[in-house]
Amino acid sequence: MEKVISGIRPTGNLHLGNYYGAVTNFVKMQHEYDCKFFIADWHSLTTHPTPDDIRRSARTILAEYLACGIDPEVAPIYIQSDVPETLELYLYLNMNAYLGELERVTSFKEKVRQQPDNVNAGLLTYPTLMAADILIHRADKVPVGKDQEQNMEMARLFARRFNRIYNVEFFREPQSFHYSAQAVKIPGLDGTGKMGKSNGNCIYLFEDDKTITKKVMRAVTDAGPTEPNSPKPEVIQNLFTIMDAVSSKETYDYFDAKWKDCSIRYGDLKKQLAADICATIAPIRERIQEYSADPDRLDRIAARGAEAARESAQTTLREVRQIIGFRN
Ligand code: TRP
Repeated sequence: MEKVISGIRPTGNLHLGNYYGAVTNFVKMQHEYDCKFFIADWHSLTTHPTPDDIRRSARTILAEYLACGIDPEVAPIYIQSDVPETLELYLYLNMNAYLGELERVTSFKEKVRQQPDNVNAGLLTYPTLMAADILIHRADKVPVGKDQEQNMEMARLFARRFNRIYNVEFFREPQSFHYSAQAVKIPGLDGTGKMGKSNGNCIYLFEDDKTITKKVMRAVTDAGPTEPNSPKPEVIQNLFTIMDAVSSKETYDYFDAKWKDCSIRYGDLKKQLAADICATIAPIRERIQEYSADPDRLDRIAARGAEAARESAQTTLREVRQIIGFRN
């Protein structure tokens, strides 16, 4: 079975956009591939979080991913910092990673602009650490968003380079993976753009029905269609896009027909949309609460995940050491 790995940056709570854009793919993939998922807590150090931040966010993410349906018996889920083997590979890869190519990575250049006072070496070598995360398991497929394409190219470059330098065919080149050519993009509720934490237009998986309903009822709309079959302006299309993800086809078609014959009432549309979002989120929220109430269970799950990950990592590292010329 092909190996799959993906890392999750611990940046706050999951929202509906993360759920449809990424997590549902993980949940589906776990039954089709040999999957591992991990929480990339080392990567988060580039912005210097406090010890409390780190402890809290790893558990939060873990609880939310489990609640979404990742089954740790099927797909181990671990915390990056529990697998120190990654760091040894990171060091080896860094020896063959060049300043020029690392400086040219777009996300690095962006960070330099955003945080000119904190251009640390970890930021520069972010792609090497990510490559180590992937290559330590010799993964074939990596489900990631479009924004990770350049990091994936670097991982393939480092894999090829290692093979060439040592004249081996050891590392496979990991491929980005998406189920469909067009990843599901959930728009925000403020009319434009995609749902994102920094945009403040999110519906979070931990939120209660009342909060969700209030947010949906406040979503931006327009004055309504004046001519039959007119194209939907972005703010309206966005509501339909969310409806397409959370509601039944009958519901979607019903409101689509009402749009087309100009009899649509946005209040009804939003009420239905809110109810369907709540129905999707309620069971997830309940499971988040269950997991969060049992930190020992979360720690046990992470420990089992780390055990599986370390076993796989050690197998790779033994061979890497041998290839480079170190004793085991
Ligand atoms: N860079 C990824 C992101 O920002 C997170 C990540 C770290 C990752 N290591 C990885 C993703 C390895 C896939 C594989 O989302």
